[in-house]
Amino acid sequence: MTIQSKTPIGLDGVAAAETALSHVDGEKGELIIAGDRVDDLVLKTGFEGITARLWSAGSGVSISEAEVRSQLGQARERAFARLPALLAATEGISVVDGFRAAMAGLREEPGLKPEAVIVGALPVIAAALARKAIKEAPVAPSPTFSHAADTLKMLRGAKPSADEAKALDAYLTTVSDHGMNASTFTARVVASTQADLFMSTTAAYCALTGPLHGGAPEPVLEMLDAIGTRERIQPWIDSALARGERLMGFGHRIYRVRDPRADVLKGAIERLGSNTTDLGFAAEVEAYARAALRKKNPERALDTNVEFFTAILLDALKIPRQAFTPIFGVGRSAGWTAHAREQQRTGRLLRPGSIYVGPMP
Ligand code: ACO
Repeated sequence: MTIQSKTPIGLDGVAAAETALSHVDGEKGELIIAGDRVDDLVLKTGFEGITARLWSAGSGVSISEAEVRSQLGQARERAFARLPALLAATEGISVVDGFRAAMAGLREEPGLKPEAVIVGALPVIAAALARKAIKEAPVAPSPTFSHAADTLKMLRGAKPSADEAKALDAYLTTVSDHGMNASTFTARVVASTQADLFMSTTAAYCALTGPLHGGAPEPVLEMLDAIGTRERIQPWIDSALARGERLMGFGHRIYRVRDPRADVLKGAIERLGSNTTDLGFAAEVEAYARAALRKKNPERALDTNVEFFTAILLDALKIPRQAFTPIFGVGRSAGWTAHAREQQRTGRLLRPGSIYVGPMP
């Protein structure tokens, strides 16, 4: 079969899989994860609850929220016990790179689902690397805490407030899955070869790190810092766009309207009531950026995406910037593991074609 040149390059509009896990409607600005709209989800359930639903739907075998809570607690403890081995190859590299190296050291653990080993280990690794960067020793997990509360405790060395734990839980739940995004697609490509979940999710994390995907929140804060004051919003954004730069935290391949996750996270920031970021200033930056993008690309709707408010929320929770992408991975790993299982069950290798534009013999 010869692929026609009008095939969309970048796979826009191409369905790579059928999935029971999540649905993104870019025209309506709607995200459904395992049967619920994302805005309802954070009111109804937390990270362990949505993880149970994703794992059940992905594997076809039901698992309860209580079992997920127990497996994740045990997995955090096991990962902490293996930290010296997991961190062995992370010496002298950044938190984002070290996270990749440590993930590659994960392996099956007796009595735990591979899904739980992975999702449970990730906050342990992220926290240990973030603390190592400031020359602090790792902090042991508390297996009875929620995944979100324990993540904050391991990062900071002290138990977070209930409101802080709730805010991180809302974040992890909101980003737990999102259709066929680049990292999830990567997980599915690897799983489609019948490679295991450890291979699939390590590859997925690599895809997450780029600024066009999960690497955007740190640059969002850098942008807010660089703009600095209200008077500089307009000239800064105008000249960045005139130089052809992309504004981090704006635009999306699928959404033609505002990313629904942006408002969920904005709500979580407001409920947290933190004063780390001047929310009035951030709102002015957002409003001007949206207007400037509309003017620049009238044909292509570009609006706020999840990363703009991710940056503000994670900063308000005093999570170090270098750990933003790994913490995104903590949340998204629920979806990666479920998608990898769902893909393996299809037995179908993902293998797209290409259009040859090189010289002919
Ligand atoms: N700032 C300025 N211009 C933009 C932006 C942006 N954030 N996003 C898209 N555009 C412009 C492009 O330059 C292009 O303009 P042109 O036609 O004049 O060349 C036009 O809009 C269309 O862009 P595409 O490349 O077709 O958009 P695509 O769907 O490939 O990009 C992406 C989506 C990668 C998210 C893009 O909007 C972007 O780079 N945003 C900034 C980075 C970011 O926020 N990443 C996080 C995404 S959310 C997530 O993955 C969790």
